Amino acid sequence: MQQTLQPLITSTWLAAWDQGELDALDGLMAADYTRTSKATGATVDITGLKAEIAAVREAFPDLRTTIDDIVEGAETVAVFWTSTGTHTRDYLGVPATGLSVQTRGSNILILKEGRITRETVTWDGSELLAALGIRPLRGIAAPEGGAGVDFPELDVNMMKAFNRQFITGVTVVTTMDGETPKGLAANSYCSVSIEPPLVLVCVQKSSSTYPALFSSSHLGINILGTEQKETVSVFASKAQDKFAELDWHEGPKGSPLLDGSAASLEAEIQERFQARTHTVFICRVRHAEIADTPPMVYKAGRFYDSAELAEL
Ligand SMILES: Cc1cc2nc3c(=O)[nH]c(=O)nc-3n(C[C@H](O)[C@H](O)[C@H](O)COP(=O)(O)O)c2cc1C
Repeated sequence: MQQTLQPLITSTWLAAWDQGELDALDGLMAADYTRTSKATGATVDITGLKAEIAAVREAFPDLRTTIDDIVEGAETVAVFWTSTGTHTRDYLGVPATGLSVQTRGSNILILKEGRITRETVTWDGSELLAALGIRPLRGIAAPEGGAGVDFPELDVNMMKAFNRQFITGVTVVTTMDGETPKGLAANSYCSVSIEPPLVLVCVQKSSSTYPALFSSSHLGINILGTEQKETVSVFASKAQDKFAELDWHEGPKGSPLLDGSAASLEAEIQERFQARTHTVFICRVRHAEIADTPPMVYKAGRFYDSAELAEL
């Protein structure tokens, strides 16, 4: 009679994923073991699997796994599992959100002489990010020249020239980094919808404000007024304390709102789309302040007074 592998699979699984005892896997996997993700098509050997588990455990140190079910056939085993953990460190290039997450998967194991020779998993790392509300954009988040890039890149100068024809306002996007206010100048603000009140802003990942912004639950967006030319320079710079010379106050959730702005809002971050160099933050507005001050206008690197606009 065939011996059940269930206890060994369960104990090995929990030892590796929950305790970080990666070498426990050696007792369960055959020498030619491979694991293929159905989501990405990527195949790794046991070293790759160990690296993947180590990366997940590093980012989610309190990872806890439940084996929901194990269904055994003659030469195949199906494992259904649920994992929970707190996003404490960088994972797949995404800074810690501090959020707790639950993710589920199912694996099909092919056996050979009582060991796992092949594994197919319905899950890959992006599922964890998706569960955190972080979605890579298809074809953009793929590595340089990688799968999904099926269009030739547009000439950079053409793209810049196109953007120079677009007129925007200027905002300062803010957040709190612990007790320290942080912010950067951004003209990528856009209203998404009025009902529900959604807005978006795109922030470069290399910005020093980015890590704090990414892990915040809320952010502030200040539409600058015509009197705030100096404020743009400060927030477009890498100055250490950009708020030192400014008057500002906190929104209801603590986001810094700049006094003298044409308008300010505080919004709850709902999605963090990964667009390679930038993250698109989609936010639900929870609070807004509107002043009489005319907004600043920005076009092709220059700033203008909106009170002087000529109507067509
Ligand atoms: C008018 C204007 C618009 C800008 N828009 C954006 C933007 O939408 N997103 C972004 O990431 N950076 C934008 N920048 C650049 C940042 O403000 C700049 O890189 C800043 O130094 C970042 O500061 P930090 O690294 O301290 O966060 C803009 C700059 C200016 C002057």
